[in-house]
Amino acid sequence: MKPKVLVTGGTGYIGSHTMLDLLENGCDVVCIDSCINSDTSCLEAIRQLSGVEVPFYQADLCDLGASERVFRDHPDISGVIHFAALKAVGESVEKPLLYFRNNVDSLINILDLSLRYGVKAFIFSSSCTVYGDVQKSPVDENTPWQEAASPYGRTKQIGEQIIRDTLQHTSMKSILLRYFNPAGAHPSGKMGESPINPPQNLVPVITETAIGKRESMTVFGTDYPTRDGSCIRDYIHVCDLAHAHTLALKHVFADRQLSQTEVFNLGIGNGLTVLEIIEAFQKQTGVSLSYTLGDRRAGDVMAIYSDHTKASKVLGWEPKMDINDIVSSAWTWEKNRSTAGGK
Ligand SMILES: NC(=O)c1ccc[n+]([C@@H]2O[C@H](COP(=O)([O-])OP(=O)(O)OC[C@H]3O[C@@H](n4cnc5c(N)ncnc54)[C@H](O)[C@@H]3O)[C@@H](O)[C@H]2O)c1
Repeated sequence: MKPKVLVTGGTGYIGSHTMLDLLENGCDVVCIDSCINSDTSCLEAIRQLSGVEVPFYQADLCDLGASERVFRDHPDISGVIHFAALKAVGESVEKPLLYFRNNVDSLINILDLSLRYGVKAFIFSSSCTVYGDVQKSPVDENTPWQEAASPYGRTKQIGEQIIRDTLQHTSMKSILLRYFNPAGAHPSGKMGESPINPPQNLVPVITETAIGKRESMTVFGTDYPTRDGSCIRDYIHVCDLAHAHTLALKHVFADRQLSQTEVFNLGIGNGLTVLEIIEAFQKQTGVSLSYTLGDRRAGDVMAIYSDHTKASKVLGWEPKMDINDIVSSAWTWEKNRSTAGGK
């Protein structure tokens, strides 16, 4: 029998690509999302690409009663992947309570339901922001945490700790996946990042600028002690990232995980500067970008990239795509959604 997986935040960017990967790898999928930062258009794309209509519930996970309906309708859910969260670092600095309330309350509710309904595997979207302003990269899973650079990062630190504490003495197992910088879009051009709130991540800001939705973009900080003065990040293609979730679930379902909670870094392991990404985009697409050099942005760390050896060894995960795949797929997606009259 196929395992049934509940994907929270499934109509969002990473969730939608993961739902498709799960369907392509022998899982049934149910989706819940409040649509606070997404619309449901990915469900049609997933139907076209997989032939499957994913059952969808529009509900806020901070509402325990509304969320429980999903489990009552699908008592056979054996895995939960919890993507649902607000994620804008800058906004979290301005509105910390919004972030604590949304990201922490929703996590508590989904954990509560997962335990009550006998879920076997719980996968959590964590982030490299848990490491804070690290002094050196690459970071592996044992790199000690620094003070979180933003309330958003703090919600991920708190989230990981809540999961560890809650799962002790239960039969549910969890995997905490610390993403570095997800970017790019599905190679079909039918699915990609399409947030309701203006994106703050670099690649969608680049594509929105290139297509003319933004007049210009700003490179935040050019006086960091890096190769060219701009921040260094580790960009991982969203499809590679999505597949890691399928592997993580299968790892737990196959009883290969002995400890209650495991943590894995998911990045490509190669740091690139903001200016290098802009250069890669211009070279791959032939489009020249209008950008200005600006001040540093609150909450940003100087440089961080991953050591993902553990995910390779334990989960058998290897990223297959590079920065050129990322910028070209993101550009195809931007052109498609703009032609279709999307935001
Ligand atoms: N994209 C990144 O750069 C990045 C990096 C590291 C970690 N993450 C984490 O990965 C997860 C997914 O990120 P994404 O890029 O797909 O973001 P996204 O905003 O595209 O997707 C998140 C989805 O969660 C939904 N959501 C938010 N709060 C909710 C709630 N209370 N109830 C129900 N639905 C809710 C939103 O509507 C959205 O569709 C998040 O937890 C994010 O913090 C993302």
